[in-house]
Amino acid sequence: MRRKIVAGNWKMNGSKDLSEELVGYVRSEAESLDNGVEVVVIPPAIYVGDVLKQAQGQISVGVQNVGQWQSGAYTGEISSEMVRDAGCRYALVGHSERRQLFGETDEAVAIKASLVVSSGLSAIVCVGETLEERESGRAESVVSSQVRSGLSLIKQDDWHSIVVAYEPVWAIGTGKTATSSDAQSMHATIRGVLKSMGAPAEEISLLYGGSVKADNAAALFAEPDIDGGLIGGASLVAKDFISICRYFPAGA
Ligand code: 13P
Repeated sequence: MRRKIVAGNWKMNGSKDLSEELVGYVRSEAESLDNGVEVVVIPPAIYVGDVLKQAQGQISVGVQNVGQWQSGAYTGEISSEMVRDAGCRYALVGHSERRQLFGETDEAVAIKASLVVSSGLSAIVCVGETLEERESGRAESVVSSQVRSGLSLIKQDDWHSIVVAYEPVWAIGTGKTATSSDAQSMHATIRGVLKSMGAPAEEISLLYGGSVKADNAAALFAEPDIDGGLIGGASLVAKDFISICRYFPAGA
């Protein structure tokens, strides 16, 4: 059975107050979700402690990035061991903003993903094409190659800790979203690539991200290869985030 996940990536937004209000509300509403969705909150690292307190173990908490090393003289970095030690369950790896703004390479993504899973966390590894890549007909080859290289260091025993998030770059924060059938088609491609790598592809959760809102979530989540969402803007509004979690079909 694949995990059904709705994860909120706050990016560089939020505050101590928001951590308290939003996570308190989401936790109390999450108790009444009867569709088996795992709710994950991914705040800026500085607020992880506050969010963990509010989450009370009932919703999962993650970080947006980890370092490429486990300890040492790397000022400003946080290791995946530390993230697990602090009480988180998830780490995002290779978000397109990290790739584009901070020069994160496929090689760095591969190292981080393998450190995250070997530390006992789940890695949400992000892939996605730019508008130019889509318009020139290269979306599938770009995404397939990101999946192959980003997951090239995963050991057979660690695949159960891998989640892949397909986030087309042109859909992030733009209000444009992939149609549910385009998203489904890319998810099926990703599952095919995972299979060709020897991964237990049918058991790996694939999330869609990019302008997911309460009004498009139901159609996306109804697709057979979309196992949840990675939500940016709408995850900062407690009611919107919880409505998205509710749109997951029960028993899917
Ligand atoms: P938006 O939902 O704001 O488009 O962001 C998506 C995203 O990048 C989540 O990681």
